[in-house]
Amino acid sequence: MDLKELISKKEIDAKITELSGVIINDFGSSVYAMTVLEGARVFSNYLIQNLRTNSSTVENDYIKLSSYNEGTESSGKITIKKNPEKDYKGKKILIIEDIIDTGLTLKFLKDYLTRNGASQVKICTLLDKPSRRTVKITPDYCGFTIQNLFVVGFGIDFNEQYRELPCIYYIEPNT
Ligand code: PRP
Repeated sequence: MDLKELISKKEIDAKITELSGVIINDFGSSVYAMTVLEGARVFSNYLIQNLRTNSSTVENDYIKLSSYNEGTESSGKITIKKNPEKDYKGKKILIIEDIIDTGLTLKFLKDYLTRNGASQVKICTLLDKPSRRTVKITPDYCGFTIQNLFVVGFGIDFNEQYRELPCIYYIEPNT
């Protein structure tokens, strides 16, 4: 399988700084984040570190969802594999996600958190593939809009491989 670099670490770092500024502007000095495992763990670490450096207090919780079976196509069925541990009722939540594809995962999560008492839910994603959308969901903060490429790295996997790569690569088709 051939991997090609799509977004460099330098570009990611600059984007995280930019996103962090916009988020602090909207949220003020206190951010309640919810990171979607596993893929968003790396992005979330960098983003939260940046938010904290820029004088914002950040509380973070994790939720683990699964929408993909093995392979590159979404199964369409979302399941919660790990519930958040903290009480988020009445909170304005910043969901931190690595990628939006069909939108099914975030549509499910936004509805779920709202139904369970979040006062407001905002979405921050590193990557967005709007051409793949099957449900209406728009991120409030988006790092990069990309074409319909299968991407890996910076936390994103293909069959649990490549999460450790330092930036975003795409898998060259037919290799
Ligand atoms: C990926 C990604 C998003 C979701 C996006 O997660 O992290 O959560 O798919 O796809 P969608 O917009 O079509 O719903 P995945 O289920 O692969 O789990 P992982 O993050 O643990 O790798």
